[in-house]
Amino acid sequence: MATAARPVVIDTDPGVDDALALCLALCSPDLCVEAITTVAGNVPVETATRNALRILDLLRPAPRPVLAQGASEPLKRPLQTACEVHGEDGLGGATALLTPDGRPRYPDPPIGPDRTDAPEVLAEMAERFAARLTIITLGPLTNLALALRGHAPLLRKVGQVVAMGGALRVPGNVTPAAEFNIWVDPEAAAEVLQAGLPLRLVGLDVTHQVRLAARDLPPPGDLVTRFIRDITPQTLAWSEAAEGGGMPLHDPLAVAAAADPTLCAWEELAVRVETRGEFTTGMTVADLRPGRGGRSGATCEVAMAVEAERARRFILERLWRSSS
Ligand code: RIB
Ligand code: CA
Repeated sequence: MATAARPVVIDTDPGVDDALALCLALCSPDLCVEAITTVAGNVPVETATRNALRILDLLRPAPRPVLAQGASEPLKRPLQTACEVHGEDGLGGATALLTPDGRPRYPDPPIGPDRTDAPEVLAEMAERFAARLTIITLGPLTNLALALRGHAPLLRKVGQVVAMGGALRVPGNVTPAAEFNIWVDPEAAAEVLQAGLPLRLVGLDVTHQVRLAARDLPPPGDLVTRFIRDITPQTLAWSEAAEGGGMPLHDPLAVAAAADPTLCAWEELAVRVETRGEFTTGMTVADLRPGRGGRSGATCEVAMAVEAERARRFILERLWRSSS
């Protein structure tokens, strides 16, 4: 007998890899996306919200998740985006594409978000689903930190929080020391890591091993595969030029690890966030000296290894199956 789909809430800053992750989650029969909350990160939050609405208009999931817009800037710092990676529109320039009769292929959504108080929506979902809920964060942790400030006891009752962020044994990607999601709002990340949540971090230690190459893209099939082919060229080119190899599937791996935790090997670690370093702000720091891990003082579980090929197949088969 098929098991009931697990309720999830996704906090996101789409963003090309976020868009792939949202498609993955919405096409996964074992996940039920109850709400999508947007946060400023890759792009300004209004752009992130429009892109989440475009994806909902494209995939038309039933039931339709609540869409709530969230924080427009980090807790204490000015917003720094990644438009050079994801395009000014956050979808690799795909919003400029036209249909044969000259209409936008991905038009501006006709309606806005259902709510504009994403931290409250996170708390409401935590209250409604409690231990059944998995919160998946794909951007800076601003919304989750704001939700904790008002509703920490509720948030601590959720089943799992899976956050894409951090880098422990590998360099950062936005600075030599920091991964982008943590770097954009290090104060929020520090508050989340100290909040006593059932938290799992999916960071660059594993996401850089799971990449999408141009040759992986399916032939144009239905709307989803055409959307994926339309939004990925810029990020693929950027990744090739900047890092070599395909585009890291950062956010899709976080969704995959939420759906199947066996894809990764997890270590309980006391992870701290640097918030004052001249060269290291946004760095995630854990005591990796032998014998220093384990439960005592652990603040989260960190994915320190991944079955990369199995994870890649997991992601691509679910994404392409959506077109079958
Ligand atoms: O460092 C990768 C993360 O930063 C991903 O979530 C990507 O979308 C960007 O937000
Ligand atoms: Ca993201």
